[in-house]
This record gives sequence, structure tokens and C-alpha cells, in this order.
Amino acid sequence: MNNFNKIASTALALGLTLASGNAQARDFRLGLITPPSHLWTQAAEGFGEELAEASAGEHSVSVFPSQQLGNEAQMVQQLQAGSLDMAFLTIAEISNRIPDFGALYAPYLVNDVAHAARLLRSDVAGELLELMPAQTGLVGVGYGMSGMRQILSRDPIASPQDLEGQRLRITPFEPIRDFYLAAGTAPTPLPLPDVYDALANGQVDAIDMDFEAIEALKFYDQAEHLLISNHMMFPMVGVVSGRVWRELSGADRELIITTMNAHLDGVIDSVLEREPAQEAALRALDLTITEADEAFFREAIAQWEATWNQRAPALETLRQAAAVLEVE
Ligand code: BEZ
Repeated sequence: MNNFNKIASTALALGLTLASGNAQARDFRLGLITPPSHLWTQAAEGFGEELAEASAGEHSVSVFPSQQLGNEAQMVQQLQAGSLDMAFLTIAEISNRIPDFGALYAPYLVNDVAHAARLLRSDVAGELLELMPAQTGLVGVGYGMSGMRQILSRDPIASPQDLEGQRLRITPFEPIRDFYLAAGTAPTPLPLPDVYDALANGQVDAIDMDFEAIEALKFYDQAEHLLISNHMMFPMVGVVSGRVWRELSGADRELIITTMNAHLDGVIDSVLEREPAQEAALRALDLTITEADEAFFREAIAQWEATWNQRAPALETLRQAAAVLEVE
């Protein structure tokens, strides 16, 4: 059974063990932190349109981008309470609640976005989603992703020593905080919508970010040194509130799984297609570019592993799967 079918059948089975609601027209509210122009938001809109069409207008989806409903921690609480129906979330907030998801952020677990896509589409990654209903009260429908993580900074970062003491913006979650603490920086957790102003007003010296956001949100206006390090992948997960799930009929659950997964998978395809052009566009700007690999972060990685090999037992299995998928 492939990953998609496995997730679908698990989520359906989870629903079917609970009282199955009757079909009922709904306007689902879907929250996310990315701005309207971002790939994830466009995928959420596309999912809504397709769900409306496939349900012959019975269901619709209202998309709330740019953190309009709150940050991801607040959205997770709303999903748990059933006051929010759906969300496209970074894995960050999930890893704060289920440490095994932190394994997806292991530095250099994958080499590039193609490798990340193969791993996220694997059974091993799909099995992690099965932990979500019991441990968070959310149904994890499937994965999307963003590009590989890079570092954009005001001052040049040419050696590991240059990272020391940098106030470096991170997405708020523990595995990345631990990585940058080990690298000697002062990690500063900030959600995506707050990053531009924090760079502009000097609250941070550098940011952890992907090519797409650096380009689309013009972060390069505020910091002109780019360390191309590809140090982590950045998965996203499409979720439905467990409380809402229980109220849905089996047919509606199946429709949501199929439709949402098609758009999440489309996000992965788009990242694969667009990342090379985004990198080329950034290389063509007047930025200082430096490249780094695993050796650059060797000491930080050793420290990170000392913590996370124990906190996230799934890491071992993910590493084995990543090794098999490296050469496809
Ligand atoms: C970030 O926190 O860096 C981020 C979040 C969502 C999409 C892309 C980047």
C-alpha cells in the first residue's frame, strides 16, 4: 500500500471507530500562517475550490491566511476544541507536542528537495501521521513541504565562528532551537509574518529561511549575505480537527482525504519544480553567496544528535529510509 492510501485508510479507520456523522453541508474554516501569495495558501484555496466542486456545492472552505486566526500553537488549540476545522501547519508545532516529529528536522537527514519529497511520500513518514489523533486530537491527512533551509544574514557568515552570538530568527520549535543553540547563535523564535519587520528594525541579525520566502517576501532587501546550506527539510502537514472529523460521514472523510492530499502533493511537486529557479534568481541578485555543507555544522550536529537521537526514536527508522531513498 502506498503512503497516500495508507494515510487515507488509517484516517478513515480512525473515523469509523467513532460515531459516524450524517452528511451535512458545511463551510470549513482552514487556517494557515502563510500570506495569500504563498504556495501553501494557494494550495489551500485550490483544495477549497475542488472540494466545493466535488461535493456539488454542498461543502466549501474559507481560507484564513497570514495568521488571521492566531499563530500555529493557537490554531492547534482551536483545532482541538473544534472551533477551527482544518489547517495547513508547519511540522514545527506538531513536533513541540510529539517529539518523534522532530526527527523530520534532523540536520542533513536529506540532501535536497527531491530527497525530501521521496522521504515524505514514504511509508515511514506516513506512519508518523498515525500518532497524531491520539497525541494531538488532530487527523494528519498528508504532507506538503517548503524548500530546504538556508541562512540569510546582515553580516557575512563564512565560518562556524561567524554564527556565534548572532540573533538568528527561527520558526518557533524545539529541534531547530537546539540546532542553532548548538551552533552558538542566540535563536530568536518568530513566526513567518513577523520576520520582515524584525529584520528591518534590527531585532534579528540573521534568519533561517527557504529560497521561496527569501525571494517572494523580499527578505534580501534587509540582509545581503546568503549561506546556502540546505541544512534541513521543512515539511508541512494538512490536518483536520478530530472533533470535526467525528461529525463527518465516511463519504465526506474520503472526499476530504482525496482532495486535500491531491493539493498537498501538488505543493511538493511545485517546490520540486520551482526551487531551482528561485535559487538562480537569488544568485543573480547582488548578494554575497557562501556555500556550506554538513562538515560546516559538524559540532552543532553532534550536539543536536546527542539530544534528539533519544527524544525522537523515529529518527533511526527515518535515517534508514532516507539512506534507501538517497539514490533513487
Ligand atoms: C517559516 O517559519 O520560516 C516558514 C513557515 C511557513 C512556510 C515557509 C516558511
